[in-house]
Amino acid sequence: MAHAVVVLAAGLGTRMKSKLPKVLHPLLGKPLVGYCIDTAFASGADRVVVVVGHGAEQVRQTFEGYPNLSFVVQEQQLGTAHALAQARPILKDFQGPIVVTQGDTPLTRKETLVGLVNALHEQAAGMAMLTMKLDDPTGYGRILRDESGNILANVEHKDATPEQRAIKEINPGVYCFDGSLWEKLKQVDNHNAAGEYYLPDLIRIYHEAGQKVASMESKDTGELLGVNSRAQLAEVERVLLQRLRDHWMTQGVRMIQPETIYLEPTVELAPDVTLWPGVILRGQTRLGDGVEVGAYAVLRDTTVEAGGIIRSHTVCEEAYVSTGADAGPFARLRPKAYLEEGAHVGNFVELKNAHLGKKAKAGHLAYLGDAEVGEESNIGAGVITANYDGQRKHKTTIGKRVFVGSNSVLIAPVTLADGSFVAGGSGINQDVPEDALAIARERQRNIEGYMKRKRDEGK
Ligand code: UD1
Ligand code: CA
Repeated sequence: MAHAVVVLAAGLGTRMKSKLPKVLHPLLGKPLVGYCIDTAFASGADRVVVVVGHGAEQVRQTFEGYPNLSFVVQEQQLGTAHALAQARPILKDFQGPIVVTQGDTPLTRKETLVGLVNALHEQAAGMAMLTMKLDDPTGYGRILRDESGNILANVEHKDATPEQRAIKEINPGVYCFDGSLWEKLKQVDNHNAAGEYYLPDLIRIYHEAGQKVASMESKDTGELLGVNSRAQLAEVERVLLQRLRDHWMTQGVRMIQPETIYLEPTVELAPDVTLWPGVILRGQTRLGDGVEVGAYAVLRDTTVEAGGIIRSHTVCEEAYVSTGADAGPFARLRPKAYLEEGAHVGNFVELKNAHLGKKAKAGHLAYLGDAEVGEESNIGAGVITANYDGQRKHKTTIGKRVFVGSNSVLIAPVTLADGSFVAGGSGINQDVPEDALAIARERQRNIEGYMKRKRDEGK
């Protein structure tokens, strides 16, 4: 029978010193609590309930549209047991085990949740919990066992005697409960050092009810990493990044100085991709076979097909680069920049909603916005599509094998037909017919001997 997961995420997160609720802080581009939610569903959960406090509305909005996901608000942070009790109205009739995780420990693995559900069934236990042994257990709840190894209770660090504090086995805060959970929660009180309703008191309550408390030990202390401060957020990010880099390197990606490369879990890389130092890959970025990305390039939601090259310091957002096309160094591909096969974009060229046909080239210093450039056309240095009249955007259409001379301004809407040629320095505001030459600038005048006369006058 499938299980439900409750994620406890109502803590204040004051140590983040931020206006943003702690659980919404991005970790590799995804909100912290998003990891817990995704892990919960990945473990096969039928329902996921997140207990939120501070910034509840903002959290709810961030995850709008997830099916089988609900949010409940804990108005006052009275402790973890009180937080869990807020999920009761939603889950009291749920048939199946209830798994509980903590919203600030994003590295908890789905295998852990599945393992606890299985342990509950296999050992016919009332509850199952994760445990870990730490050399330095300071701050964590300690596990108390009897001589035969049965779990009796948890004691919080604050409430522990010196002997109990010497116990190295701790409670990582991940549990699975049977259906009697909601009745038992009512027995938890707040008579302790913190004056809080402690969720781990359920361990003693299950034990005293004569039900078995099963345990599962995790050796992966990384799973325990919690986020309470910016420094811990950075630490968790470091661990996740390391996992991602290792993953892609085993899939055949070459990373030069991998520790300098930033990439998000949503990125997909093919074998023989080469990433130079300082590369940043974000969102739905997809790189095909053998793609090379130069140093300090930044790509977000960008596709580069097999053999494409993005040279150093290039910035791409929602761009598409076909096989054998290349951009940079220092190019900027803004949303809907589209390079067909073999197209070339060089340094200081900006594209926005612009389509470059096969083997079309814009080698240096150009702005192409709302433009269509046909195959094998050449855009000279300093060419600008003037696409904005102060109120609306207009389109520039350039046919095949067109040559646009340097420093020309193409005032949209305007069309340059196939095979046409624009002389350098032209301001073009009328369509240019097929195979025509357009010159739109002052004709040059040479005044013979003028400079010599000037010099002679000065003598
Ligand atoms: C808790 C456990 C401790 C365990 C540790 C592992 C309790 C009392 N102690 O301590 O045994 O070793 O986790 O990390 O549970 N939360 C709420 N509402 C509240 C209080 C907390 O939603 O009123 C949420 C927090 O946002 C957090 C989680 O519950 O995600 C854990 O709370 P926290 O205060 O961090 O508990 P710990 O001191 O870490
Ligand atoms: Ca914690």
